[in-house]
Amino acid sequence: MKKRILTGDRPTGKMHLGHFVGSLKNRVKLQDSLEAGLPKYDQFVMIADVQALTDNFDNPQKVRDNVKEVLLDYLAVGIDPAKTTILVQSMIPEIAELTVFYLDLVTLERVLRNPTVKEEIKQKGYGQSLPAGFAMYPISQAADITVFNASLVPVGEDQLPMIEQTREIVRKFNSLYGEVFVEPEALVGEVKRLPGIDGNSKMGKSLGNAIYLSDTEEELRKKVMGMYTDPKRIHVTDPGKVEGNPVFIYHDVFNPDKTEVADLKRRYIEGNVGDIEVKEKLFVALNELLKPIREKRNEFEGKDEILNQILKEGTARAREVAKETMTKVRNAMKIDYFK
Ligand code: TRP
Repeated sequence: MKKRILTGDRPTGKMHLGHFVGSLKNRVKLQDSLEAGLPKYDQFVMIADVQALTDNFDNPQKVRDNVKEVLLDYLAVGIDPAKTTILVQSMIPEIAELTVFYLDLVTLERVLRNPTVKEEIKQKGYGQSLPAGFAMYPISQAADITVFNASLVPVGEDQLPMIEQTREIVRKFNSLYGEVFVEPEALVGEVKRLPGIDGNSKMGKSLGNAIYLSDTEEELRKKVMGMYTDPKRIHVTDPGKVEGNPVFIYHDVFNPDKTEVADLKRRYIEGNVGDIEVKEKLFVALNELLKPIREKRNEFEGKDEILNQILKEGTARAREVAKETMTKVRNAMKIDYFK
């Protein structure tokens, strides 16, 4: 049987360059990889609306609207519904069912030790009003992955604690009830963590420091020209710092002209180039990358019938797989009463 891949995104906003280098690029590569002339993987990509609701339960319209935005971003970067199954999480009730069983296998203490969740709880300032569903979402994420018995999970670096937790749950389940699941492995993109345009170590939609895949040329230019650089450099003739400078980190990641990047770096260190020139060249490189993505997005925008059809077909196919897994789970857990 082909190796399965599962990954997903919360539909809470449009996708940005951090998503692109962290995970989206890998997904396109994986869906197209062949072995002996045949697709090497069976890839599932989930729009995780249930997870999005854990901290947006009071704004369901936002989640609903962003299901479409995320789908458009997927199609724009080249995720092809003929090769990749795209599904909506909430329409697969088997995931919720499996989550309930997993809740027994994890301690509350372990859940609250997850560093990504800890960080998010702090950032959102929940204090005493932490929703239980939010604290538990990594357990539901373990169900997302294992209900498809996926062995590979292409994700950004911040998701590694979720994969670790999933592996623990799999080990526990298998040792208690018998070998049903494989332990999944994470696959992180070549760029582990893309900084935000404000110099923050992470680009994030909630941080307001992102360049979106759907940004217009004007929006892109404005963001690039306003990017944080070396704050100590005031005059063009001041020697500048390249390491840790987001403008140069982006040049390294996105500018295919390595000679140009090396030249800009040398002149920056010498105090021999203006920020405007460095940023202008970054804008050109980024626009080159985003232009075809923008165009592809435009092709699908407003075609609601086609978009709905893609989700409906993908979800139906995914549900068949999830049902098969749950038959095995119920059997292993001795709760298959009426077979
Ligand atoms: N937690 C992921 C994020 O915030 C989204 C997600 C939900 C996911 N379910 C998943 C990622 C399963 C990988 C596998 O980006």
